[in-house]
Amino acid sequence: MTSIVRNQWYVAAYGREIGRDLFSRTICGESILFWRTEAGAVTAMSDRCVHRRFPLAEKPSHLVGDTVVCGYHGFTYGADGVCVAVPGQARVPRTARLRSYPVVEQDSFVWVFIGEPALAESVPIPRAPWLSQEGWTTVAGREPLAARASLLVDNLMDLSHETYLHGGYIGTPEVAETPITTEVDDEAGVVRVSRRMADAACPPFYANSTGLTGRITRWQDIEYQPPCLYTLHSRIAPVGVLPNDDGTDPDAFHVEVVYAITPETEHSTHDFWAVARDFALDDQGVSDFLAESNRTVVLQDVAALNVLEQVIAGEPDGYQELSINIDTGGLAARRMLDRLATGR
Ligand code: FES
Ligand SMILES: [Fe+2]
Repeated sequence: MTSIVRNQWYVAAYGREIGRDLFSRTICGESILFWRTEAGAVTAMSDRCVHRRFPLAEKPSHLVGDTVVCGYHGFTYGADGVCVAVPGQARVPRTARLRSYPVVEQDSFVWVFIGEPALAESVPIPRAPWLSQEGWTTVAGREPLAARASLLVDNLMDLSHETYLHGGYIGTPEVAETPITTEVDDEAGVVRVSRRMADAACPPFYANSTGLTGRITRWQDIEYQPPCLYTLHSRIAPVGVLPNDDGTDPDAFHVEVVYAITPETEHSTHDFWAVARDFALDDQGVSDFLAESNRTVVLQDVAALNVLEQVIAGEPDGYQELSINIDTGGLAARRMLDRLATGR
């Protein structure tokens, strides 16, 4: 059975990746062609010519105005994927059209709907407003992961691994020591996991970016909206400093760590990561540091999950994992993913 949840929105790219060059990416096993019209709108259609399947992102395929011309025999398609010209005859076969995908540009991401296009409007697109909002500065990237998407979901839902896998970057002993609370909101389709550390060591990731020295109050509030969007609301403040009663929080540092978990195939994943902060907005040194540190952390996860994928691929079905309290969020996420997959 496929593990990929269909009839859902997935992040396919950052908006900045798509321009007037033909761009192809495999999303949920489907090869999709992206380009921008002359008016700047992002298009998404199958990257396989209907004639002999030549990839339209492959040279010498090219754009002419708002049409894409296949580089093999010249079938020409409009921005909606409908073929408008074929070589050697005036009549264009009625069935000559590329599959086109609902596509929306939002919060710096290009979202594409995988599944039955008619359902797209009824499925909400999760939001990550910080990534393109005034008052925040963002660094972002994407790493290829040679492992199934569910392994990345497990990884992100249980941050106790920071202490072991990411020691020296974002992990300190308190992360693994502090219990979590988990909340499942079936109606909104959100799993929340919170870990609030009242008095913790400040890891280099935050010490070097905020300038805080000494111990901190560190909150990690996760929201996962299956299947694709994960946000870690991270709050860092000197020990004892809490938000005001009216919800304002001027003496804390806020970081929104966003992941878009997009299956490339059944066994590989696009790991989109972004780190938005509400401090040191114009400090390029802080941006460079956070980008480099987060990328290092992501690559530590990628290395571990690539190993796990190999382990799982090489063993018989039915292996019985052992779960403990720290896994509550990950198990809730799995249940929600299963429900989305089976439509129940
Ligand atoms: S394969 Fe595209 S025109 Fe022939
Ligand atoms: Fe990690």
